[in-house]
Amino acid sequence: MSKPTVWISRKLSDNTQARAARDYDVILNDDDVISSADDIVAMSARADAILPCHSELFTADVVARLSERTKIIANHSVGVDHCDLDAFRQKGIVVTNTPDVLSDATAEIAMLLMLGAARRAPEGDHMVRTGSWKSWSPSFMVGTQVTGKRVGIIGMGRVGQVMAQRCRGFGMEVHYHNRSQLPSELEHGATYHPTVETLLPVSDFVSLHCPATPETTGLMNADRLALLPAGAIVVNTARGALIVEADLVAAIRSGHIAAAGLDCFVNEPGGNPAFANHANIFMLPHIGSATRETRDAMGFRALDNLDAFFAGSEPRDRLV
Ligand code: DGY
Repeated sequence: MSKPTVWISRKLSDNTQARAARDYDVILNDDDVISSADDIVAMSARADAILPCHSELFTADVVARLSERTKIIANHSVGVDHCDLDAFRQKGIVVTNTPDVLSDATAEIAMLLMLGAARRAPEGDHMVRTGSWKSWSPSFMVGTQVTGKRVGIIGMGRVGQVMAQRCRGFGMEVHYHNRSQLPSELEHGATYHPTVETLLPVSDFVSLHCPATPETTGLMNADRLALLPAGAIVVNTARGALIVEADLVAAIRSGHIAAAGLDCFVNEPGGNPAFANHANIFMLPHIGSATRETRDAMGFRALDNLDAFFAGSEPRDRLV
């Protein structure tokens, strides 16, 4: 019996591609070029399944134009804001994602951003690297201490919960907002806030871990940033759309927000040039899940979903 054909739209880990090639007829993208809407539509006529990343945009228009041949989109990402799920539902195409396996890696990057923004890592690195470190004094490069502070976590799903655990390791007092309160055994003493409005005033640090949806887009706007205590630090490893970037620049410029640590931007790749003049914004290029271990785990989880689908059973991470 012939194997299903899977289009793997980006270059994935060697282990993932090897397993995929063992079990499927694969169409690879070893040059790792980003596909346009027309490319995606054209490839769908050649593949029974697509294994994309968050870089492939499945808008309603693209989904409507996909070939009847494609039966499943097995995303290599936990976030699915690049997929119009309603359009997939209407079209009858199954969609899966890769939850759980990237929580540790993403929480690591959130901690890195939190610590780096608080302790002025980009400025310090630049100074030493460029030979411009000429003096030292007790008033030099003084930052914000993380230990013992209050962290507000928005989105207490899998990544948010790991982040809370890491923050507790720093003796932080954990507050969170989530659509629903966690059972107390998962809260580990964290304080639930039914609204973002009550969470922000008690957050010396705020860390975003919710998906980008119509409800959360623009969540951190000027009004909400103003609710944070003066000198607060904003961390985002979720999606750029959660922050109104112009409002964050204004809050950084005014000094109300002391620093920010950002791994996600409204425009990706590229980021926001308005952030570049601010040394107190520590930026990374969307690498929350970029560890060797996690890339393999994401690839394998996506393949597990494909295997289940083609074996006629329910994929574990089916969203649509
Ligand atoms: C995810 O899985 O959503 C990460 O942002 C990488 O795509």
